[in-house]
Amino acid sequence: MNKGFVVTPWEVSGDIDYSRLAKEFGTTPISDTLLKKIEKHSGKLHYMLSRKIFFSHRDLDILLSEYEKGTKFALYTGRGPSGDTHLGHLIPWIFTKWLQDVFDAPLYFQITDDEKYLCKRDLDLSQTTAMGYENALDIIALGFDPEKTHIIVDTDYSKTLYKIALQVAKKTTASSAKAVFGFTNETNIGMYFWPAMQAAPCFLPSILSGQKIRTLIPAAIDQDPYWRIARDVAPKLGYPKTSAIHCSFLPPLTGMSGKMSTSEGMQSTIFISDDEKTVRKKIMKYAFSGGKETVEEHRKKGGNPDIDIPYQWLRYFEEDEKKLRKIYDDYSSGKLLSGEIKQILADKISKFLAEHRKKRESARKNISKFILKD
Ligand code: TRP
Repeated sequence: MNKGFVVTPWEVSGDIDYSRLAKEFGTTPISDTLLKKIEKHSGKLHYMLSRKIFFSHRDLDILLSEYEKGTKFALYTGRGPSGDTHLGHLIPWIFTKWLQDVFDAPLYFQITDDEKYLCKRDLDLSQTTAMGYENALDIIALGFDPEKTHIIVDTDYSKTLYKIALQVAKKTTASSAKAVFGFTNETNIGMYFWPAMQAAPCFLPSILSGQKIRTLIPAAIDQDPYWRIARDVAPKLGYPKTSAIHCSFLPPLTGMSGKMSTSEGMQSTIFISDDEKTVRKKIMKYAFSGGKETVEEHRKKGGNPDIDIPYQWLRYFEEDEKKLRKIYDDYSSGKLLSGEIKQILADKISKFLAEHRKKRESARKNISKFILKD
């Protein structure tokens, strides 16, 4: 049946119906009661929660109830280093940093140079490892606490991870890997083993501490199939089931379908390394507009923020609720023109990236504080 979209760890395309996706994946929408429970600890909710950019979860309620009884948890997220970091990658990481601050939680950040070597035909291992260390700078630049943040580049931490992955692999059959990930007889056998490596950090905090530590994974929803495997095997191995909180995808610059990704082409993606001129040019030229054909008509009828990429991106990057609301109202009423909302976005993104790049450079000298090796 063609439902008009595809979401797997390797492909995201089409017009994604997120509530339908949550149903299909068997994840739970984040309820207002759960938001209140988070708010009790955080004071104000992060805008990615109140705007439902993070919209679904697995067992977050259980993890929080345990936390309220005094049980600490660890955070786990990751990055597949197949190229330069772009704005879409930063969304779950920005939110992860907030979770770390609110819950004072250690973070394990997996950089999967092994995975990207296995699944990308044109990349060799030395390239994915090098990209992994470059990507690590973008993670550090977001301000994670060096005392509590452990970045793992898989091939440099394989002694520890491999032993955990073996336990997972022994309890996972090829037929379940096929069912969950769509592997076929043509898939290389490295990929059949790979889900065990991505599940391993779910249990790493327990193994390192010798206690049963719960993990919470903030990540985009396409990674959820891995957590199904990890959660299936957890009780068999004597670990708590991992919890997850899922976000939607930053749409490509060129329109609402799919997610921003390097393979969608340069026009649809803003990289961390894009200078101000490039950022402005891409936004002015390529950002899909929900505005009307002519200024006259736009003034009369107003634009449609629901399909307007500059507005949609501001939902992801403009923290100030009042500012965002005013932009919404002015754009819908026709007071704000398409060129003007693009300027607002270009200003916001250019400023953010200029600051980010400074922090990224100073991260170079601190990187060893973050990297776990064995
Ligand atoms: N498979 C992910 C990717 O290709 C990388 C990854 C590994 C990850 N562990 C993770 C992402 C945990 C989110 C959470 O990008």
